[in-house]
Amino acid sequence: MGDPQLTVEDLYVRFPTSRGTVEAVNGVNFTLEKGQMLGIVGESGSGKSVTAKTLMNLLPRTAEVDGNITFEGDDVRAVAKERRKHFWGVKMTMVFQDPMTSLNPVKRCGEQITETLRYHLGDDKATARKKAIDLLEQVGVPEPAKRVDQYPHELSGGLRQRVVIAMALACEPSLLIADEPTTAVDVTVQKRLLDLLDGLRRDRGMSMILITHDLGVARGRCDDVAVMYGGRLVERAPTETLFADSRHPYTEALLRTIPRIDQPSHTRLEPIAGRPPELIDPAEECAFAPRCRYAQPDCLGTIPPVGGVRGQHEFACFHPANTERGRQALDANLAAGQTVTGLQIQANAGVN
Ligand SMILES: Nc1ncnc2c1ncn2[C@@H]1O[C@H](COP(=O)(O)OP(=O)(O)OP(=O)(O)O)[C@@H](O)[C@H]1O
Ligand code: SF4
Ligand SMILES: [Mg+2]
Repeated sequence: MGDPQLTVEDLYVRFPTSRGTVEAVNGVNFTLEKGQMLGIVGESGSGKSVTAKTLMNLLPRTAEVDGNITFEGDDVRAVAKERRKHFWGVKMTMVFQDPMTSLNPVKRCGEQITETLRYHLGDDKATARKKAIDLLEQVGVPEPAKRVDQYPHELSGGLRQRVVIAMALACEPSLLIADEPTTAVDVTVQKRLLDLLDGLRRDRGMSMILITHDLGVARGRCDDVAVMYGGRLVERAPTETLFADSRHPYTEALLRTIPRIDQPSHTRLEPIAGRPPELIDPAEECAFAPRCRYAQPDCLGTIPPVGGVRGQHEFACFHPANTERGRQALDANLAAGQTVTGLQIQANAGVN
């Protein structure tokens, strides 16, 4: 296997604000192989979109970025600085949560696709229009020859999102980043759109990063899943390993928020108690400690480094779930009825 298609090394993103500096992304590392589908999962505010926007060069100018990003041999941050011919919108594209942020309400759907084709690929008007109709057909828009001439407001939410996907696919990207692409539509449409994206990815040999707060969405679709918490990547593993043998207590807690195939349908799902961490002036401790059932005194002294098997199953935790060390920590906390941070815990709420 050659070099990975995408390499992200020690990525930091900071936003200076009047309240202080928001430490949005804190030392994130990951790689993506060509054709692979990586899920990035985490609660609201964990840094998923900021990571994606850094890759796409879409951060506001005030953002302070550090780290190395390489995409198909190019140094992404250097390309952004030099303003030379770039790959955004062509080889690397992104689909956002709300289709209306990508669509221009006063332009016909077809025009929005043909503009991309004409600008980036230099297609003439007729070729671009034909390609736009083909693309709409590929993404499952019925009567594409009629839809090209319609305005976004004339389409349903699901169809609009398909138009956005068609736009993102227009220049045959080799990497598509989909940031919560289906949260604005209902569950059935959501499944159809995700299946569509997955099918297109396979047909085109395209890589994909699928960003979602729902681990259930990543299952069965993503090859690997990376879990983010407080701007850090706290666990990454092949999807089935993550589901069967998670190590980070946050991943374990996330797993309990989604229905399991082997559970009766009335099983109560548990939301994760507590709030996401503070990103301005965070303490030098494990950011999950206040919500963690396994927390021990050493978790409050240092930020846990990423360990495990590099490139295979990585996690950042001092007392990992599904290990002897983790079981001892949890047993001690259960016996005490609480953790070192004062989190009250009970045996019947646990998985062990
Ligand atoms: N331009 C900005 N200025 C200041 N803070 C920002 C800016 N953009 C993002 N942030 C902060 O960075 C943190 C990470 O945000 P991000 O949008 O990446 O979260 P997310 O994981 O995508 O969450 P969600 O699931 O809600 O989309 C949040 O605390 C957010 O408020
Ligand atoms: S056991 Fe400690 S290091 Fe691991 S997640 Fe819990 S608080 Fe963090
Ligand atoms: Mg987001």
